[in-house]
Amino acid sequence: MRLSVIGAGYVGLVSGLCLAEKGIEVVCVDVDEARIDAIKRGNCPIYEKGLDELLTRNINKTFEATTDIELAVKTSDVTIIAVGTPFDGNQIDLQYIEQASEQIGRALATKDGYHLVVVKSTVVPGTTENVVLPRIERYSDKKLGVDFGLGMNPEFLREGEAVQDFMFPDRIVLGGYDEKSHKVLADIYAPFQDVDQLFVDIKSAELTKYTANCLLATLISFSNEIANVAASIGVDAREVMHGVHLDKRFTPLLENNHRIYPSFITYLEAGCGFGGSCFPKDVKAFISFASKTENPTKLLDAVIEINEAQPFKVIELVKRHFPSLAGVKTAVLGIAFKPGTNDIRESPSLKITDVLLKEKALVTAYDPVAEAEASVYFSGKVPFAKTLAEALEDTQVVIILTRWEEFGNVPELISHNPDPPLVVDGRRMLDKDSVPKYEGIGL
Ligand code: UDX
Ligand code: ADP
Repeated sequence: MRLSVIGAGYVGLVSGLCLAEKGIEVVCVDVDEARIDAIKRGNCPIYEKGLDELLTRNINKTFEATTDIELAVKTSDVTIIAVGTPFDGNQIDLQYIEQASEQIGRALATKDGYHLVVVKSTVVPGTTENVVLPRIERYSDKKLGVDFGLGMNPEFLREGEAVQDFMFPDRIVLGGYDEKSHKVLADIYAPFQDVDQLFVDIKSAELTKYTANCLLATLISFSNEIANVAASIGVDAREVMHGVHLDKRFTPLLENNHRIYPSFITYLEAGCGFGGSCFPKDVKAFISFASKTENPTKLLDAVIEINEAQPFKVIELVKRHFPSLAGVKTAVLGIAFKPGTNDIRESPSLKITDVLLKEKALVTAYDPVAEAEASVYFSGKVPFAKTLAEALEDTQVVIILTRWEEFGNVPELISHNPDPPLVVDGRRMLDKDSVPKYEGIGL
């Protein structure tokens, strides 16, 4: 079997390289020539743990990259669509899905043999059948179920852990138009025999992805709402969430009669809000989709509302000590929306830093991997420290906004400072007693 993957972004490149690693022949396509050239040279265009190694190991063996979509589709048996589906301010923007579907249709027009087209991009229910399918039929003049099959296979990849999540998935959801489509999907995932594979219809697969992301985002906003209440009555939200979490319904695993508390995967962790390329856009796109079905989404509306307000809680904490931020030397630690990635899309850190700048604080930023991306965003308005120690030199306030492991060294690094800075912990990653002046979300 040979696969073509359209789009060599986070989803396409990770999926393509992981399937190549499993021994399947893969050709990845992108319109971005510089990106494809880099991949061909073995240079991974995104920062993602373990991806470099997969590229080095598989390039020009089971993995190839090209800008020629027609050739890629024609020389493959299956095409996976992994282009971006941004939110345009009102609804999901399907322009890349539409273009890719047309191009696939054109390529299939002169291809012999059965072909399966699989949507991996996150798309609102109905998109695969109402947007992708008609374009393939129109441009190929071929017939669904006879000449080609259709599938929808959502990804559940966390940035920073995407390779691990692909290689060791919790489940694989395979939406298929008919039995034949399901059969080819099963062949693709044959190397993942010991994983639960759910064979469902296409719309159900589409909705599963949104439901998963909306639930996780809801848990985070719920935790932030509780944290804000806890803080205002003098209770530590971390202790509360610990107490809630040790319920077997949230923490089912036991070791020596103690529940294993998986703090890193709970989504009950209060902080300065969720960001990234998925939760904000997916929840908003789903709300817009649901409104077209005339179903209100009061809960999800609140999830977004809480998330948009949460970054400003960090500013409130700073203002308890510095009512005016003008001229206050402030070190912002972490611009990436979470650790393990250089992705700054929708990062709460951007919003917080923008307020600090607007209120004329003297900001220095530090991020171990996202400096280049952040510098473009701030277009020179924010100086970056090269090391954590440099960021902490001569500062009055330290604000932690990304849970980078390295920031665990802050207490030690400021411990010899005769006039230690205020530490505002937007991710509750430090022990509240580890620094002389500490403020944290939900405390
Ligand atoms: C998410 C989903 O987890 C993944 O399954 C899906 O396929 C894509 O979207 P990702 O965007 O990489 O993955 O990030 P994730 O690790 O889920 O975190 C999202 C945001 O939520 C981050 O900004 C993180 O800091 C925040 N978060 C997460 C919290 O504020 N509290 C938590 O308890 C967990
Ligand atoms: P995601 O994070 O969902 O993977 P990205 O935006 O990072 O999304 O990546 C999508 C990739 O798809 C981009 O590199 C973009 O250039 C590419 N792309 C979009 N449309 C097409 C197309 N018609 N053919 C090939 N590549 C495409």
